[in-house]
This record gives sequence, C-alpha cells and structure tokens, in this order.
Amino acid sequence: MSSESVDEMVVEAIAAFCSASDLESLKVARLTHFGDRSEISLANREIGALPPAAKAEVGKRIGEAKARVKEALESREAELTQIRDNEVLLSEKVDVSVPVDRLKRGARHPLTTLMERLCDVFIAMGYEIAEGPELELEWANFDALNFPKDHPARLMQDTFFVESPDSGVVLRTHTSPIQVRAMLERELPIYVVAPGRVFRTDELDATHTPVFHQIEGLAVDKGLSMADLRGTLNHLAHVMFGPQIDIRWRPSFFPFTEPSAEVDLKCFVCLGDSSAVGCRACGGEGWIEWGGCGMVNPKVLRAVGIDPDVYSGFAFGMGIERTLMFRSGVSDMRDMVEGDIRFTGAFGLEA
Ligand code: DAH
Repeated sequence: MSSESVDEMVVEAIAAFCSASDLESLKVARLTHFGDRSEISLANREIGALPPAAKAEVGKRIGEAKARVKEALESREAELTQIRDNEVLLSEKVDVSVPVDRLKRGARHPLTTLMERLCDVFIAMGYEIAEGPELELEWANFDALNFPKDHPARLMQDTFFVESPDSGVVLRTHTSPIQVRAMLERELPIYVVAPGRVFRTDELDATHTPVFHQIEGLAVDKGLSMADLRGTLNHLAHVMFGPQIDIRWRPSFFPFTEPSAEVDLKCFVCLGDSSAVGCRACGGEGWIEWGGCGMVNPKVLRAVGIDPDVYSGFAFGMGIERTLMFRSGVSDMRDMVEGDIRFTGAFGLEA
C-alpha cells in the first residue's frame, strides 16, 4: 500500500464529502469512503497480513489517513447539520404575534334578518315600527278586533290562555292587536309595521310551530282605498322576491277587515304557469298563500275612537316562517326552531 495510493484515497474521500450537499448524500459518501467496505477499511484490514517490517509503517500511514478522512467527514457533517437546522428554523417559523380566531364566528337567525329586511322596505316608504306585548289583553287580541265572543279562534284549543280562561290575558295569537294599540296611542295619520312573535296551540311539525312570527301592517289616513293596499303589497313582493313575483287576492273573511282578502304570491318556481301541473313548490296551483289583508273594519276604527266617515285604513299580516320557507327554499319549519348552527350558519351574518 503505497503512500500515493493512500493519499489518493484520502483526497477522493475528502472531495466526495465536500461535494455532498446535504446530510443524506453525505451518508452515502461516508458509506463509500469510510464504511466497512470502503477502500480504506479494506486496506486497514490487510495490515495484519503484512510482514512485520512493513506493518508499523503502513499501519501508521493508514492510521493517519483514517484520521484525516474522519476529521473531514465530521467537519462536513457539522456544516451540513448547521445548514439543515437553519432551514428548519426558517420553514417551521411560528409567528406567535398573529391573532387567531379561537371563537367560531356565529350567525344571526334568518328569521331575524328577514324581519329586518321586511321592515326596511316599509321604512323606505315612510312607515314606523310599532310594538306590542306578547302577553296581550284578550280585549286587544280579540274584542277590539271585532271577534265575536263565540268565535272559534278564541277556543282553548287554539289560544294559550294565561292562568284561567277568564283572566282576560292571552299569549297573542297574531300581531293584529298591535293595530289596536297603534291606533290608541298614535296621532293620525298612521303608517306602521309590527314584526313579532305569536303563539298558537299547534303541534310542531314541518309546517306548524306553536311559536312563530308575523309582520303586521296598518295604514290609517284620509282617502285610503284597496288600490293603495294592492300597490303596497305588490311593491313588497317585488322588492322581496323579484320583479316577476306579483301578488293576487282571493276573497276571504277576517272580523277586523271589510272587505278582506287572502294574499297569494306568484310561485317562484313555475311563475304561475298553470300548465306546470307538476310544480312541487305550489302543487300546480301557480300561487302560494302568503297572508291576509283588507280594509280596516269601521267597527274596529270606532272601537279605538277613530271616525270611519273621515278616515279609512288598510291592514295586512304575513307569516315570517312561511316567507322564509319560500324565499330561501326551507322545506321544514322545525329547522327554524331547533337552533342548530349548521342551519343558521348557512345564512351567514347578512344584515
Ligand atoms: N291576523 C291574521 C292571522 O293571523 C292575519 C291578518 C289578516 C292580518 C288580515 C291583517 C289582516 O292585518 O288585515 O291570520
């Protein structure tokens, strides 16, 4: 084993270590040049077989060579380790000053935002918002609205009475008593809308809930006619559902309006096309029931001290749940009362 060939081994090994660009390739170079099967290890093993005279010299030469290779390996390893550590420090950097969203963002209930939108349409027309109590006088909920004493709506099976049925207090069954309060409390002319919660003894199912919401409207002024009512509701329908969604009226009866009408919306799926027999949204009707309306009954005006020969009024009331059902395609009312944030979250924070 000449000193030239040992030097060559050392030079090759050092060159291989230096050209290793990362710890992985250094490992490969180490196996080749300093592993058990590397030339230098094999040479080391052969020392034992040399004649005693040569043993000492060759042993020393190879020992020194091994030490140089080892040193080169260790210093390159240290360098590459340092480079790797720097890269890890950069790539795994965590900015602890970045603010995090630890609370999931909530959502407003779509019934609330829908009521606000409906109110906005009326506020833009100059209406005011009116309010009334949920625990209402039977007088305002029924008597002042011209419900006769034996009207079926007064029966216990529809109305939540508070304490005893003769306590004179009920959970309001509709928002119409707010009409009575508005006319008693406000100066004429009156233009108000009143969104609110109402109560009826219905079982909870896909289309009923014992607690639901309505929006009531009332206008009392000189010279108001059914044409004003019609224009107002048509405007509301167009703003809420689009210019193609008209309303239609069907004759109806409410004790507090005369004449009275049911308000239907043109079906938003088949757009009132009567040939759309299969339309599932409206059952082939072409129209969807929305609420009730009419001219305020002169008896109601008189009950609150307004002269029906001077003033006339119109009124209307719609279910908010129903409105949300066809405005947003909600098919089951129970989704609106169960408070599951997966339902409300889909509506986001729209104001
Ligand atoms: N209060 C009625 C109900 O709950 C709805 C209604 C009908 C309200 C006609 C009105 C109206 O103001 O004029 O079924």
